[in-house]
Amino acid sequence: MELSGKTVLVMGATGVLGGLIATALADAGASVLGTARSNDSAARLPASLAQSLLLDLEDAASVQTLARYLADRPEPLDAVINAAGIVGFGTVEGTTLADAASLMRVNHLAPAELISRLVPRLAESAAAERQPVIVGITGIVSEQAFAGMAAYVASKTAHAAWLRALALEVRRSKVRVLDAHPGHTETGLASRAVCGVAPNFPMGMTPEHVAQVIIAAIIADETSLPSDRFAA
Ligand SMILES: NC(=O)c1ccc[n+]([C@@H]2O[C@H](COP(=O)([O-])OP(=O)(O)OC[C@H]3O[C@@H](n4cnc5c(N)ncnc54)[C@H](OP(=O)(O)O)[C@@H]3O)[C@@H](O)[C@H]2O)c1
Repeated sequence: MELSGKTVLVMGATGVLGGLIATALADAGASVLGTARSNDSAARLPASLAQSLLLDLEDAASVQTLARYLADRPEPLDAVINAAGIVGFGTVEGTTLADAASLMRVNHLAPAELISRLVPRLAESAAAERQPVIVGITGIVSEQAFAGMAAYVASKTAHAAWLRALALEVRRSKVRVLDAHPGHTETGLASRAVCGVAPNFPMGMTPEHVAQVIIAAIIADETSLPSDRFAA
């Protein structure tokens, strides 16, 4: 996929991976629309964005508002990259339904709703031979379960399965789906857990390395990015 001249939505552009990916895409000549969860966190959006948008995946009205705005926007939409997400820790019996529901909503249901609403825009991009792509970062947990994080693993595995089914549905309209499965990455995400306390993870990969592997796969028209592809 040629990035220059393309319009890309990066959900979670305030985050460490989202910020690096958004910046790299803008450096490659893409027009990048980036989302922040709130006006406060919008201060962390990269300066190179073409447009800053608000998206709170916990708020159904926020998802609908952004979906409507992007559906009606006259310019093409060529890629949707979901770098938003939350993590939570805790044993199965120690995790509340509220925390499990929040993980499922933010990591799977709400991004699935937004992406679904944007599929027609991406199909338009494909019809114009602009090689559109939908990118998820579900991580190694969608390949392998880990104790003490069942609710997170479940939310990411649900999203990975949904992306696989979506890929089959949109293949005919020539919309590509790429789900990245990086392992633990030193973004500080684990320290921002919405519940529980992170175990002592061994040192993870650098965010710069992980972002670079994902960008390279986007450019190379790849349709899968398993965890072993992130080995340095
Ligand atoms: N770090 C890892 O080890 C690792 C490994 C595999 C996969 N991943 C996945 O990679 C993605 C990026 O993670 P990261 O490590 O870069 O973490 P991060 O720096 O904490 O970024 C998380 C992003 O998600 C956004 N977000 C959180 N809750 C949201 C909500 N309710 N609505 C909208 N946006 C929300 C944050 O927005 P605000 O800043 O505006 O709050 C932020 O932009 C996540 O999906 C994560 O699960 C991470």
